Amino acid sequence: MLPGKSKIYEKNGDDILFGFGQLIGILKKNPKKIVFTEGEDARILEAASRLLASNFLHPILVGSEDKIFEAAEECGFNIRGAEIIDPAKYDKMDEMVAEFCELRKKKGVTPEQAKEILLQGNYFGTMLVKMGVADALLGGATYSTADTVRPALQLIKTKPENSIVSSCFILVRPGATGDNEVLAMADCAINIKPTEDELVEIAGEAAKCAKIFGVDPRIAFLSYSTHGSGAGEDVDKMRNAAMKTKQKYPDLPIEGELQFDAAVSPRVARTKCPESTVAGHVNTFIFPDISAGNIGYKIAQRMGNFDAYGPILLGLNAPVNDLSRGCNASEVYSMAIITAALADANAGAGASA
Ligand SMILES: CC(C)(COP(=O)(O)OP(=O)(O)OC[C@H]1O[C@@H](n2cnc3c(N)ncnc32)[C@H](O)[C@@H]1OP(=O)(O)O)[C@@H](O)C(=O)NCCC(=O)NCCS
Repeated sequence: MLPGKSKIYEKNGDDILFGFGQLIGILKKNPKKIVFTEGEDARILEAASRLLASNFLHPILVGSEDKIFEAAEECGFNIRGAEIIDPAKYDKMDEMVAEFCELRKKKGVTPEQAKEILLQGNYFGTMLVKMGVADALLGGATYSTADTVRPALQLIKTKPENSIVSSCFILVRPGATGDNEVLAMADCAINIKPTEDELVEIAGEAAKCAKIFGVDPRIAFLSYSTHGSGAGEDVDKMRNAAMKTKQKYPDLPIEGELQFDAAVSPRVARTKCPESTVAGHVNTFIFPDISAGNIGYKIAQRMGNFDAYGPILLGLNAPVNDLSRGCNASEVYSMAIITAALADANAGAGASA
């Protein structure tokens, strides 16, 4: 069995695996405003109706008021109390256009171009976060990952201490005794071919994210080689990244380069790297590139019975998260809670949008 057990999340019994008990408790004390860029989508409306009934998170739906009410009525979702903002009728559009032009002045964006761009829900919603109208954003029910992430990269930008935005998935599988196994995997969604130094940053951010979800991170830099058993450019990259990460975060348990079996199986670890106390017990996995990461988390999800939450974007000034276009309303609901919890953690760390 993989390590990384957490007692934080109790099983809920219905359609979401996480109980989210602790996260919801935090949000009840300090409800966050989340903007949904696809307010007219039935899955978003269903999740919004559940969130409104629970009263620990304030949804802002982007879209036409008529279309949103029509769609909600048709599907039988009660969205009374949701804030709806239509980009075509937004009373602070002039202020938003001016701020957008200022943010994109190096690209020479004109007010006419900005007005056009801001009619799109992804850019408009991102500006609502940037201007402090919302604490965080959840999109991607119809937009691609790139179209959800790009406005955030351009407008919300990376935190001063970060050089890149990256991402991680939190994977959860219920244990027989009621405990859940919780793992973190990065970067499975944003950086296509991260450099050695970018991997150091990705590992540091993934460890922080893992802690928010109750995981005490034990990190492996994954490869097709364990401690020099194989050779190649990517092996050197992962070994050097592990070494640099150990230097930067001396208190974190880190090992690399490691093969996946040596990372998770104590028996294999005893054979392949007996001197390591981390190998065999890893719960936070750093992949050499997006292909390995994306394929890896999907194997865990589809064949290992893990529920996958993410991609959770790391290193941005405010939380922006991406849904899969194949998502259902429960996944939207879960990701909204995660996104709000990250907004809370961000506020606690003194970050600003
Ligand atoms: C994230 C991604 C969309 C950015 O692509 P892009 O928009 O073509 O990137 P560009 O090079 O044009 O950059 C756009 C802006 O984002 C910034 N940017 C790009 N990647 C960044 C990163 N990782 N971190 C921070 N900023 C980044 C650029 O500096 C640029 O800023 P500017 O416009 O102010 O100069 C791209 O890396 C990507 O497609 N990744 C894979 C996404 C994917 O398909 N995932 C799998 C499914 S989950």
